[in-house]
Amino acid sequence: MKKIIIAIDGHSSTGKSTLAKQLAKTLGYIYVDSGAMYRAVTLFAIENNFIDKKHLDKDALISAISGIKIEFKKDALGTTTLFLNDKEVSSKIRGMEVSNLVSKVAALPEVRKCLVKEQRQMGQQKGIVMDGRDIGTVVFPNAELKIFMTASAHTRAQRRFDELKSKGETVDYDEVYHNITSRDHNDSTREDSPLTQAEDAQVLDNSTLNHNEQFDLVMAWVASKIEKN
Ligand code: CDP
Repeated sequence: MKKIIIAIDGHSSTGKSTLAKQLAKTLGYIYVDSGAMYRAVTLFAIENNFIDKKHLDKDALISAISGIKIEFKKDALGTTTLFLNDKEVSSKIRGMEVSNLVSKVAALPEVRKCLVKEQRQMGQQKGIVMDGRDIGTVVFPNAELKIFMTASAHTRAQRRFDELKSKGETVDYDEVYHNITSRDHNDSTREDSPLTQAEDAQVLDNSTLNHNEQFDLVMAWVASKIEKN
């Protein structure tokens, strides 16, 4: 069967990765979480004291960027894990410290240029599902299927709050809500590759859709794109 590129963009915590993983598994495609790459660069910047709440040493981060190695690997159970310079950081990149700083790092054009190049290489053979903010607009403007996901801010904050709590993090709902809405604002208003809906994207508002309804709807879109291509 012909392989396509599926680009999933949208607001924070809309369930992009859950949908992308499920699609990749069903179709036998590669799944790439581009947000995890921006989160890994942010963790690198924190660990090297290039960024904290009050300052960002852009120049230091940019000159160190070629020394950042980001790899996705499968563990024994088949779960994808993320390695930053040979250290497993999958949980660490999801914490609030990284979440609160990632939009600042992701706004740097030099960081984006470097990660977009890697992302394009991963999609060379097609058969890929990638989620993020600029996948359908910048990384793969020719993707056969583009999905733009959204849901109400409250629904998204509650989902992220439940997820962090279930992982044992001490979290405050208001902090999670604030993080989500401020990232939406920063991601949508930055100069380089802002979060915008591609003109040819299918909109998926999942505030009121359950997992199965959402999956069935998207699989119908996939089938029609594969047929046409
Ligand atoms: O999982 P969640 O929706 O909260 O975010 P994520 O996909 O892990 O992305 C974290 C942050 O990385 C976003 O808020 C953006 O600032 C940035 N990002 C980006 O700029 N471009 C992408 N393609 C993916 C993420």
